Amino acid sequence: MTEQFDFTTTEHVLSPPGAPVFGEDVRADAKRIVERYPEARSALLPMLHLVQSEQGHVSTEGIEFCAEQLALSAAEVSAVATFYTMYKRKPCGEHLVSVCTNTLCAALGGDAIYAKVSEHLGVGHDETSGTPGEPGSLTLEHAECLAACDHAPVLQVDYEYYDKQSPEAALELVKSLQRGEKPDPTRGAPLTDFRRTERQLAGFFDRPGARLEDTVDGPSAAPETVRGAHLAQQRGWTAPPMPDDAQIPPLPEKE
Ligand code: FES
Repeated sequence: MTEQFDFTTTEHVLSPPGAPVFGEDVRADAKRIVERYPEARSALLPMLHLVQSEQGHVSTEGIEFCAEQLALSAAEVSAVATFYTMYKRKPCGEHLVSVCTNTLCAALGGDAIYAKVSEHLGVGHDETSGTPGEPGSLTLEHAECLAACDHAPVLQVDYEYYDKQSPEAALELVKSLQRGEKPDPTRGAPLTDFRRTERQLAGFFDRPGARLEDTVDGPSAAPETVRGAHLAQQRGWTAPPMPDDAQIPPLPEKE
């Protein structure tokens, strides 16, 4: 049976700008991440999120820190950090605003939302309005499909969903973030900020005494998303079961 790891920690204060990079408490957290996996190198993705929670991006020091903790080379860590768009190579704002401009959202107004927010903030893709990390600073990015096409057009703040947006609604949302407010997402966990979200993605939930469910829980499945499942249930529709002896076609030989 797989041992369940403890998600909760004592209160963790994120390092202020200019603090020593990766102090003892961060090293202790890194050790806890490594202990979750049979192989240390498997801990790389959450380790990169831990680094981002401390610095607001994955710096050169962050890459070296991960390499040192996991007995990898800096080149191996760098290859992973530059492959995934969730790992930022430049310091991020207090919040990350990701506007979906993929096909369905774009057709329903995603491009207009992006243009409105970009004009208001005076920044383009992967740029930050304000001083990164300071209150009210916002990093803007184009996002590929955010897997919420049934709520298009959507945007995310720190990876939490704001569904069925319009340019006006998105502008109001961005202005409220700049004022330091944290409007409730349409679905999912309550909004925190980019660095705290990154700490959660590393597997740490730091509200002392809070239950994990209270920290990350929120309304999840929307009626549109489960409409098909409900109709099938009402009408008694089922998919044929997969036969035990199903023939899986062989994969073609690699050349
Ligand atoms: S195209 Fe925007 S969520 Fe899918």
